[in-house]
Amino acid sequence: MPRTLATAPILVLNGPNLNLLGQRQPEIYGSDTLADVEALCAKTAAAHGGTVDCRQSNHEGEIVDWIHEARTSHAGIVINPAAYSHTSVAILDALNTCDGMPVIEVHISNIHHREEFRHHSYVSHRADGVIAGCGVQGYAFAVERVAALVAARQEG
Ligand code: DQA
Repeated sequence: MPRTLATAPILVLNGPNLNLLGQRQPEIYGSDTLADVEALCAKTAAAHGGTVDCRQSNHEGEIVDWIHEARTSHAGIVINPAAYSHTSVAILDALNTCDGMPVIEVHISNIHHREEFRHHSYVSHRADGVIAGCGVQGYAFAVERVAALVAARQEG
């Protein structure tokens, strides 16, 4: 039985350097902080009767462990893998263990307008949707989409 937003939170995962949002290259990532992003996700989930469990790590293995936890505890995943998007088969493999769970990938910047090494994301091979270049508003879109997919899976 798939978990619902009423019974399980959405895991909102942020990868390396995103703890410095608001201070880090504001010309690219804007002035909102990670706390602002997490508040936006909580507000968006609440509008759908849900909650979020927000975590950030600079360590690949910790992100892998948290994705394993989500397999049994969360309704869906919103993930900005940051630089690990472009390097981490381990995070892709972890997401591939989350059968039937909605996964939406977010990038604050438009990675396709940037250096070539940012154009490919391993995580996109598993993500049900990818949002890039919408600023931090992309997280709200991602939470909305997870909510819609969770509801659709419940009905179907
Ligand atoms: C990012 C884009 C990545 O290329 C970069 O390494 C990040 C943030 C984004 O949100 O735009 O750290 O994922």
